[in-house]
Amino acid sequence: MRILGIESSCDETAAAVVDGVSQRVLSSVVASQVELHVEYGGVVPEIASRAHVERILPVIRSSLTDAGLSLIDIDAVAVGHRPGLVGSLLVGVSAAKALAWSLGKPLIGVDHVHAHLAAGLLDLDVGGAGQDLFPAIGLVISGGHTSLYRMESLTQLQRLGATIDDAIGEAYDKAATILGLPYPGGPKLDELAESDGADDRAVDLPISRLGRESLDFSFSGLKTALLYEVRGVPRPRNQGGGYPDDAPPMTDERRRDLAASFQRACARAVLLKLERALAAIPGCRGLLVGGGVSANTRLRRELAQLADAHGLTLRLPAMPYCIDNAAMIAGLGARLLAEGRVDDLSLTPVPTTAC
Ligand code: KG4
Ligand code: ZN
Repeated sequence: MRILGIESSCDETAAAVVDGVSQRVLSSVVASQVELHVEYGGVVPEIASRAHVERILPVIRSSLTDAGLSLIDIDAVAVGHRPGLVGSLLVGVSAAKALAWSLGKPLIGVDHVHAHLAAGLLDLDVGGAGQDLFPAIGLVISGGHTSLYRMESLTQLQRLGATIDDAIGEAYDKAATILGLPYPGGPKLDELAESDGADDRAVDLPISRLGRESLDFSFSGLKTALLYEVRGVPRPRNQGGGYPDDAPPMTDERRRDLAASFQRACARAVLLKLERALAAIPGCRGLLVGGGVSANTRLRRELAQLADAHGLTLRLPAMPYCIDNAAMIAGLGARLLAEGRVDDLSLTPVPTTAC
């Protein structure tokens, strides 16, 4: 059972072929648009959808070539149809519908956020079923989402909490900009924070706990705290407003230490909510993590320690499957197909996640 996955929800045009039963990735092609958006410091939706239109067919073709297959070898077409930028999603959904219809194969609409949780089960030698994992906590940490789930399986999940403002990856990218690192700054901030001599206690940045039992996240206060640390606390308007002139100069050492302090605060915020979620899920056996920020060095280390301490089976994606990709779409698509959850040609892009 070979599933062709298609992904175009944001600024990555991707296609992949996955063996549905073993969850082995036969090919995975990702065409990044970073160079198109860099001068704007963020994704420009119009530019993104135009670039998807130009790239989608060559990317699909490459995914088939890399897998050594042709279209007639494909058994089903899975596509990320929610959440995302509607103009971007539309490109992948239209391509998937056209292919499924012309091949006479099933079409499967996949929730992109949920697919991030399936990424850690790709290319494992355990058949990918992972039944010993559940009930599990699901944690999606990406540029657009920061959410916690209670999972009974990869296809049965309930959201326990989510960010009430910035997603963690968004906070990383903004923090990187504040520190003068180029876009997209998350990976660069991570590298700096882990570099030799970095002092993660140089500055004690605040984390948002929200309510005593809240499983929601908030990162905008942390980002603002970093901004004030760098530029000073703005003067009140009746004193002329603006930032003070006596903020300490930004040296390489200070930038490195602020990056490490920010990285520490993010990890503390995530770990705190995971501890709370564990308390809310008695008998929890697994921890599934996905999204671009699951590539973060410190988080990967601390998630492994947490899983160890609580006897949880941890499933972290391999590096290529942390960021947006189509293998995770095909992987989850295969599981939905096995449950008979297929779509017809009325499938449409939806800007929000299903839960
Ligand atoms: O999952 P993803 O590709 O896109 C969304 O679905 O949002 O995540 C991209 C995000 C960006 O914000 C990027 O800066 C962040 O993941 N990211 C990282 C790291 N690698 C990627 N953030 C922190 N540390 C990293 N190593
Ligand atoms: Zn994503």
